[in-house]
Amino acid sequence: MSLKVSEIVSFIAISLLIGALASCGNSKPERVPEGYHINFSETSPNPKEHKRVLVISGSPRKGGNTDLLCDAFARGAKEAGGYVEKVFLADYNIGYFSEEDVQRVGKRANEAGDDVPMLVDKLVNADVIVLASPVYYMNITGQLKTFIDRTYGRYREMKDKEFFYLTACADAEESTADWAINGFRGFVMCLPNPTERGMVKATGMGRKGAVKGSQYETEAYNLGKNI
Ligand SMILES: Cc1cc2nc3c(=O)[nH]c(=O)nc-3n(C[C@H](O)[C@H](O)[C@H](O)COP(=O)(O)O)c2cc1C
Repeated sequence: MSLKVSEIVSFIAISLLIGALASCGNSKPERVPEGYHINFSETSPNPKEHKRVLVISGSPRKGGNTDLLCDAFARGAKEAGGYVEKVFLADYNIGYFSEEDVQRVGKRANEAGDDVPMLVDKLVNADVIVLASPVYYMNITGQLKTFIDRTYGRYREMKDKEFFYLTACADAEESTADWAINGFRGFVMCLPNPTERGMVKATGMGRKGAVKGSQYETEAYNLGKNI
C-alpha cells in the first residue's frame, strides 16, 4: 500500500515537471540545431535609455493587427527612453534575393539598387530588433521573408542584438502563432550571439484592428517598456 502511495507521489511530481518544461517551451527556443544558438533573457544587461530600437512591421496591412502591436511596442520603448524607429516594409522597394546578391557581401552590399542597403544598415546599427509578421499559411509573410533573405551580405555584422517577436493569427490555437515564431527564429539563430527577449502571440485575431484594446496590445506595450 505504501509503495502505491509513493508511486502516485512520483507520478504527480513527474507530471508537474513535464508541465513546467512544456510551458517553458512557449517562450524559449526549442530544438535549435547544433551549431546554432539563441540566448534567452527577459532582462537586458544594457540600460534602456538611448537604446536604438528598430521595429520591422512585416504585414501588408497598415493599421492591421501586427502593425498595431508594433505601435504599442514602440510607444512603450519610447517611454522607456529608447530611440525607436518603425519600418513598414510594404512602403519600401525590396526586391527578391537574386544570384547577384551572393557577391554583394560586406561593402559590396551597398551596390543593390533598391531600398535594401539603407534598411539593412538600420538593422546593423540597432541594439534591439522587433520582428513582426502575421501568420500567413503557417509562416511569416513574403514581405518579411524577402527582406530577411536580402540581409545575406551583412548578416554576420548583426552581432549581439536583442530580439522581440510580434505575431497575430486568426486561429485561436497558440501553436498556429508558433509557426511564425519559428520563421523569425530561423533568421535569428543564424546571427552571431543573438538574444531573444520576449514575444506576443495574438491568437484569434482575424479581423483588421481586432488587437485594439486587447490584452495583446497591452502585452506589446509592456514588452516595449522593458527594452
Ligand atoms: C494570405 C493569408 C494567409 C493567412 N494564413 C493564416 C494561417 O495560416 N493561420 C491563421 O490562423 N491565420 C491566417 N491568416 C489570417 C491572419 O494571420 C490574420 O488575419 C492576422 O490578424 C493578420 O494580421 P495583420 O492585420 O497584421 O495583417 C492569413 C491571412 C492571409 C491574408
